[in-house]
Amino acid sequence: MKYIKIYLLLTLFIISCKTKQVTNEVDNIQQVVDTRSIQGGMWIPSLLEGVNEQEMTALGSKMTAADIYDVNNSSLKDAIVHFNGGCTSEIISPKGLLLTNHHCGYGAIQSHSSVEHDYLENGFWAMNMDEELPNPGMVVTFIKRIDDVTTQVFEGVTDEMNEAEKQSLIDQNINKVTKTIQKEAWQEANVKSFYGGNQYIAFVTEVFKDIRLVGAPPSSIGKFGADTDNWMWPRHTGDFSMFRIYADANNRPAEYSKENVPYAPVHYLPVSLDGVEEGDFTLVFGFPGRTNEYLPAVAVEQIVEVLNPAKIKVRDNALKIMDSYMRKDPSIKIKYASKYASTANYWKKWIGENQGIQKSNAIQKKRNLENEFSKIVNEKDLVAYQPLLAEFENLYKEIQDVSLARDYWVEVVYRNVELLGVTFAAYQLEQAYLRGGDAAFERVRTGILNEFKGIYKDYSVEVDKPVFESLVSLYAKECPITYLPQNMQNVDFTALTNNVYETSKFTSFEGAEELLSGTAAEVIKKINEDSAFVFGKELNNMFYQAIEPKFQDLNLQIVAVQKEYMKALMEVFPNERFFPDANSTLRVTYGQVRGYEPKDGMRYENTTYLEGVLEKYVPGDYEFDVSQKLIDLFNSKDFGPYGENGKMPVNFIGTNHTTGGNSGSPAIDAYGNLIGLNFDRVWEGTMSDMNYDPDICRNIMVDIRYVLFIIDKYAGAKNLIEEMTLVNPKSK
Ligand code: ARG
Ligand code: GLU
Repeated sequence: MKYIKIYLLLTLFIISCKTKQVTNEVDNIQQVVDTRSIQGGMWIPSLLEGVNEQEMTALGSKMTAADIYDVNNSSLKDAIVHFNGGCTSEIISPKGLLLTNHHCGYGAIQSHSSVEHDYLENGFWAMNMDEELPNPGMVVTFIKRIDDVTTQVFEGVTDEMNEAEKQSLIDQNINKVTKTIQKEAWQEANVKSFYGGNQYIAFVTEVFKDIRLVGAPPSSIGKFGADTDNWMWPRHTGDFSMFRIYADANNRPAEYSKENVPYAPVHYLPVSLDGVEEGDFTLVFGFPGRTNEYLPAVAVEQIVEVLNPAKIKVRDNALKIMDSYMRKDPSIKIKYASKYASTANYWKKWIGENQGIQKSNAIQKKRNLENEFSKIVNEKDLVAYQPLLAEFENLYKEIQDVSLARDYWVEVVYRNVELLGVTFAAYQLEQAYLRGGDAAFERVRTGILNEFKGIYKDYSVEVDKPVFESLVSLYAKECPITYLPQNMQNVDFTALTNNVYETSKFTSFEGAEELLSGTAAEVIKKINEDSAFVFGKELNNMFYQAIEPKFQDLNLQIVAVQKEYMKALMEVFPNERFFPDANSTLRVTYGQVRGYEPKDGMRYENTTYLEGVLEKYVPGDYEFDVSQKLIDLFNSKDFGPYGENGKMPVNFIGTNHTTGGNSGSPAIDAYGNLIGLNFDRVWEGTMSDMNYDPDICRNIMVDIRYVLFIIDKYAGAKNLIEEMTLVNPKSK
């Protein structure tokens, strides 16, 4: 295996480095080539000792494994906080000051905004703690301890059991572990599966519930470049916002109260003023959501050739229609801005992912690995592993049509046609009534009506109608016929669309409210006479009666084969680096600051500067406007201690292996100081969720000095800077 060779080479290289100074060019290039094989991976923080520690040292780290994770002493992990379930944040002061992305705090910032105080537009800064704004429902989670509980979870599980029996016993054991694990009264515990179900790890956590908004730049800084620049390099976004954790008098989690005090952390990150240069060590510490690094070639091929193109095409159509109306009508632009952004986010990611998989030849590489795997399995006569690849081939062949149908339903009914989305909610109401009677009906109705208020506030029939016609026609044309409901076959979709949008009451909030008023029996009768509901109901029935059961059945079998395959890979290639796929648990990824070559003859630098913001400036544009204040600061070169040789760095890139959920993660230097704030990846490398390639996969970070510059020079919130510990590790 190539990796093993490179690994040996590297070990030799490290040894030889100890005896000789690396000074000449050739040796530097040698180092770039060699370190390729020790980057990538999202590692479990409690298991860094040994190989990971050596790799980090080889990349330039001066930290030990215990500096990063330690149960008995304070360590970096005590400053890393899961932010409201989806993002990451970090503590940067002794008073519980939290830093995360602007796009992670977006909902909170929006919820405090009104026409008089538009914090999204103008930014928000608390000049003292009394001005900080509470956010009901927001939670942040600390990881106190990480324990391997694999033995307990597998207790009593035998090879004779079938998959369902195994799973049921595993679930019982997990329950037991969660209940009996040693923890304090105010702590919580949960168990997660790793390596496809081959290892189980318990996390003891503390969940804080009084989280207040402290600061956010205007969107023209925090969201600069919006969708056009999303997933792209060169980038110029100040994607940050700040919160503060409050605790009770004992420094423990508590519901919001005026009496609560700023949380005193076990550790907070010192902030480095020294910046970065090519080759500097970087560590990103956070909560990556999901990766699929060990899929067989056949699965990746299916994603790239069948599923991604279908989803991209659906969203292509929806986005084009939304965009054409948003351009014509400013009120539609406001209503659809956030929906457009979230639809565009993964649309753009999938396009980049497909291109990256093709460009890096990932499918062929996986096939080569599988050939080698088969060769060794046969040589060593590992009978249990021999059928795995053939099983994958069969299962993926069998699941293809139903996966595709499922994606069409999700993308069209559930995600992109709003009218079908609301009729689906009504469908769930009917199902709740059929299963749970009046009580269940009332509960669901209250929830749905609440949800509808938010949906219809930003709803435009004018936009939704052409989206319906376009997406439903596409669904009918491309969905495998087995999973196409009768009412979508041989239909004139223009006539159908006109009829539905003329007659359905679900096209307005008042109409929907009227349909949902009255006794349960009355409501059920009324909705079943509504044209949109009737149309959607057949699609939803097809989904629940045919698509979902078949999909889940096959998927369960795939998961079982994947679990065996994961185990087999680790056994067959004992010297390979295997990290567990991301699963929203705390992980460490390390790499170096590096530019890259997106295309032949093109080279991207590793850092962008404020100059670039002005280069992109389009006055009045919703993506590229720049405020006069920032222009003035740029012209006067008033960067304070945050600039570098008369320039203000804005963003930089590195080889850290990140994914969704790593938003807001700290980028940490060789000594444990904060140097940046992770917020995105480069387009050419978004395939890293399935195939990390150190040549082209880069994460994008805000330079921490830009964050400090905005807080200090732009917002004048010196109170926040004074709380932090600023350091100069390079000149020490
Ligand atoms: N691509 C980044 C992520 O996946 C940023 C998304 C937010 N920004 C946007 N323009 N939609 O979350
Ligand atoms: N923007 C992503 C997030 O919200 C992080 C970027 C990525 O997917 O790498 O988590």
